[in-house]
Amino acid sequence: FGSAAEPIQRNPDYSVLNSDDVSYFKSILGDNGVVQDKDRVAVANVDWMGKYKGASQLLLLPKSTNEVSKVLAYCDSRRLAVVPQGGNTGLVGGSVPVHDEVIVNLGGMDKIISFDNVNGILTCEAGCVLENLSTFVENEGFIMPLDLGAKGSCQIGGNISTNAGGLRFIRYGSLHGNVLGLEVVLANGTVLDMLTTLRKDNTGYDLKHLFVGSEGSLGIVTKVSILTPAKLPSTNVAFLSCNDYMSCQLGGAWAMTHLEGVHNPLPVSPYKFYVLIETTGSDESYDKAKLEAFLLRSMEDGLVADGVIAQDISQASNFWRIREGISEASVKVGAVYKYDLSIPVEKLYDIVEEMRSRVGDTAEVLGYGHLGDGNLHLNILSSKYSDNILAQIEPFVYEWTAGHRGSISAEHGLGLMKAEKIHYSKSPEAVQLMASIKKLMDPNSILNPYKVLPRSALSPEQG
Ligand code: FAD
Ligand code: MLT
Ligand code: ZN
Repeated sequence: FGSAAEPIQRNPDYSVLNSDDVSYFKSILGDNGVVQDKDRVAVANVDWMGKYKGASQLLLLPKSTNEVSKVLAYCDSRRLAVVPQGGNTGLVGGSVPVHDEVIVNLGGMDKIISFDNVNGILTCEAGCVLENLSTFVENEGFIMPLDLGAKGSCQIGGNISTNAGGLRFIRYGSLHGNVLGLEVVLANGTVLDMLTTLRKDNTGYDLKHLFVGSEGSLGIVTKVSILTPAKLPSTNVAFLSCNDYMSCQLGGAWAMTHLEGVHNPLPVSPYKFYVLIETTGSDESYDKAKLEAFLLRSMEDGLVADGVIAQDISQASNFWRIREGISEASVKVGAVYKYDLSIPVEKLYDIVEEMRSRVGDTAEVLGYGHLGDGNLHLNILSSKYSDNILAQIEPFVYEWTAGHRGSISAEHGLGLMKAEKIHYSKSPEAVQLMASIKKLMDPNSILNPYKVLPRSALSPEQG
C-alpha cells in the first residue's frame, strides 16, 4: 500500500469460507445475489485507486434489509469476516477486503422509498447512487446537501458511512446535521430502526451518529432519511487565479476551493493558485452582480490576478469538471500518496511548501481541497511507490498536523490506511472508548476488520 509497514496478518480466528456457507447464502439471496465469478469478484477486491487489493472469494448482493440481516447473523455465528461495500470509491482502503473477507455490496438496494416535497425529506435505500438521488430531488425542486466528484458511482450509504464532506459542505454542513434517520443492521443481524424523519428528537442518545462516519465497522446502513435543501433559482460560479496564498484566503467567507498544478485547460491565465467559488441565491441578477462586484474589487485590490464568471450552466459545469477531475488526473500519474488534512486555514499552504522541500525532485506535490472548510488534500505524486519517498512524507505529515491540532482525516476517513494513525488526532481515552463501543456492538469483530481502529486498542484476538 505504498507503505514500508509490516504486512497485516490474517486474524486466524476468522473462519475460512466453505461450500456450505456458499449454499446457505444462495438459499437466502438466490443464485444472482451470490457472485463467485472470478472477474466480478476481482473488481470488487480492488479499490478505486488500484492501491488496495484483497483476496475475497465471494461477493454478496442483498436486495433487502431482511437479506442483509440474515447474511450478517450467519456470518456472525460462523465468524466470517465481512466488508460492507457501496460504490467502492473510498480513498483510504476501507471498502475492499484486506484478506478473504466476504464482500457485501449494497448496490442492489437502490429504491427511493418516499419524498416529502414540502419539507424536502428524502427516504431511500442505502445503495442509491448519489447522482441518481440528485437528479430525482432536483426534479422536485430540491438538491442533495452533498456533492462530490465520485457522485456517479458512490452510494448514499457509503457517503454516510464515510461522513463524506465534499463540495457543498461550506453551504449545507455535515451529514451529521442533514441525516435525519437511518436503518442499520448490526453485526449479529439485529435490525436497528432509527428511520425517523423528525427534525427534532431528543429521546436518549442519538445513536444514528455512531454510524455516520464509522466506515462500516459498526453496522451496515440499509436505509436513510435525509434533509434536502430547496434548489435556489440562481447559481453563479467564478474561476479565479491568485499569485499567492494570502490572497486566496481573503475570500474566506465564500465557498472556495483551492487547487493548483492541474494539467487541464483553464479558463484563466496560468497562475500559482486557483480558486473556484460557487454562490447560490434567489435573485439571479442581484446574485450575479454581487459576484461580479467581488471579482472587480478583488482584481483592483490585486488579490485576484485573473478571473472569469461562468456565463451559463455549461460553462459552470466545465469549471467544476476541472476541480472534480483532479483526483482522477492524479491517480494517472502512477503512484499517489494521499493525505486529507484539517488544518487552520492560515497554515494550510505551509505544509505544501514544506513537503516540496522534503521530497525535492523525487516527487511532485499537489495541494487542493476545500479552502473554506480548512481541508487540504495533500497529494504527493510519483511514477511509482518507493520507501524513500514515503520516509520523507511519514511520519512528518502526521506529526506536523498533530502539532497544529489538526485532523489527519478531514473527510475521507481512516480505513486501512490510517487505522494505526488515529492517535495523531484522538486521545488514548477517546480511542479506548471507541474500541469499547466496537467490542459491544460487534463482539466477534466481523465488520470491516483491520480498519478504522488500531489493533492495539482491540484485543489481539480481534486484531
Ligand atoms: P465505499 O467506497 O464503497 O465505502 C467506503 C466506506 O464505507 C468503507 O469503509 C465501507 O466499508 C463503508 N460502507 C459503504 N457502504 C456502506 C453501508 N451501506 N453501510 C456501512 N458501511 C458502508 N470524499 C469526500 O468526503 N469528499 C469529496 O469531495 C470526495 N470526492 C471524491 C472524488 C472522487 C473522484 C473519489 C474517487 C472519491 C471521493 N471521495 C470524497 C471519497 C468518498 O469517501 C467516497 O467517494 C464516498 O463517500 C464513498 O462512498 P461509496 O459508496 O463509494 O463507499
Ligand atoms: C476532492 O475533494 O476532490 C476529493 O476529496 C477527492 C480527492 O481528494 O482526491
Ligand atoms: Zn475533498
